[in-house]
Amino acid sequence: MTTEFPKDFLWGGATAANQYEGAYNVDGKGLSVQDVTPQGGFGPITDGPTEDNLKLEGIDFYHRYKEDIALFAEMGFKVYRTSIAWSRIFPNGDESEPNEAGLAFYDKVFDELHKYGIEPLVTLSHYETPLHLSKEYNGWTNRKLIGFYENYVRTVFTRYKDKVKYWLTFNEVNSVLHAPFMSGGILTPPEELSKQDLYQAVHHELVASASATKIAKEINPDFQIGCMVIAMPTYPMTPDPDDVVAAMHAERQNYLFSDIHVRGKYPNYIKRFFRDNDISIHFESGDEELLAENTVDFISFSYYMSVAQAAHPEKYNKGKGNIMGGIANPHLKASEWGWQIDPKGLYIALNDFYDRYQKPLFIVENGLGAVDELITDENGNKTVHDDYRIEYMNDHLVQVGEAIKDGVEVMGYTSWGCIDLVSASTAEMKKRYGFIYVDRNNDGTGTLERYKKKSFYWYKDVIASNGATL
Ligand code: BG6
Repeated sequence: MTTEFPKDFLWGGATAANQYEGAYNVDGKGLSVQDVTPQGGFGPITDGPTEDNLKLEGIDFYHRYKEDIALFAEMGFKVYRTSIAWSRIFPNGDESEPNEAGLAFYDKVFDELHKYGIEPLVTLSHYETPLHLSKEYNGWTNRKLIGFYENYVRTVFTRYKDKVKYWLTFNEVNSVLHAPFMSGGILTPPEELSKQDLYQAVHHELVASASATKIAKEINPDFQIGCMVIAMPTYPMTPDPDDVVAAMHAERQNYLFSDIHVRGKYPNYIKRFFRDNDISIHFESGDEELLAENTVDFISFSYYMSVAQAAHPEKYNKGKGNIMGGIANPHLKASEWGWQIDPKGLYIALNDFYDRYQKPLFIVENGLGAVDELITDENGNKTVHDDYRIEYMNDHLVQVGEAIKDGVEVMGYTSWGCIDLVSASTAEMKKRYGFIYVDRNNDGTGTLERYKKKSFYWYKDVIASNGATL
């Protein structure tokens, strides 16, 4: 058996607190932006929690974490990505003292992971800004958020300094351009939000991210800090140079975030974009140095799909999918939710990032959201025959192997939603990503029992063979 995956490759799965923990008001947790968006990240905002919001109960990981971690261990996970719910630690976000019960919960989770030799990979902010910071300060448009975030990260870095080594500062940090409330806690409706305020919010997050890196290294120099971006390779719709330029400009809106995280300064191309759009970012004294001196150790990203772009996109069918849309590529099939499936896009993303930065890369989200049918097999066990998911993941992992053969440094791969959870964009259970089926339905019914899908055994073999069975 041969494999191109390095022997210390970090195989695992990924989740986020707000999509699976549940227990939204237990042990002193405050509300987050997710508790008031029952229809998902782009849907209407309710005054308070409502019964139709599946995230409030999630899949009840809060009370079932031991059972779930045992299942991850059975698959052989080396790493497990999750997030800390900021509002469990600081219920309103702007307190000076943390909530001990929230801290104690993550102690138990990290201890349980270590019991099985699984390394935690922790996102500090995964679409779950405390709601109070949104209502009182308009989220990241307000510079005060930097101080609140620093207080929060200092607290968790200190508390878990011997339990967590790998940290991500903001989930899909570039998504704030497309989902200002879900991603940045910005209450101003997108159609009323000025580009000036939006890019100023971006600046605040970038400064906060650099500051987190600085604080992290002071607390434990061995910490490894990564940025996390949505990777979405953008192909020109035709070889018309105008289409190529349109695709290049679209990609730069993404690269802006990793460029600053890796190179520590705003790239020149964005200065022109700012001039053309009357945007003038307010830097406070020290911001420039902070960004320059606190760059990331690695780049992590989610990859679900590629998109196409053209100088005149209105001529084509708009693609559906993960946040950014773009034009549908006629060469690709799509998932039931319209996300176009493009394994080679992952190969391209890995090579493009590595050509640009020569830094280690970590694929921290990838997977297929699909409708699963729970059946009873010939042995009387409940399961799902999810060959479509196996095919999707196998094809993508083969491309990871190809990139590794090219010399790209890949630290690991954590598939998204390794256990079924509530989807972010549409807040439903029906869109499942897991190797583990959770009995919960869109109407909130279900026993919450867990069942192993066919992909569970497939992934177990992939990990055990370090990719040789792909
Ligand atoms: C990513 C997010 O954009 O996509 C996750 O970081 C999310 O939180 C994932 O769940 C899949 O999206 P969805 O909408 O299918 O859950």
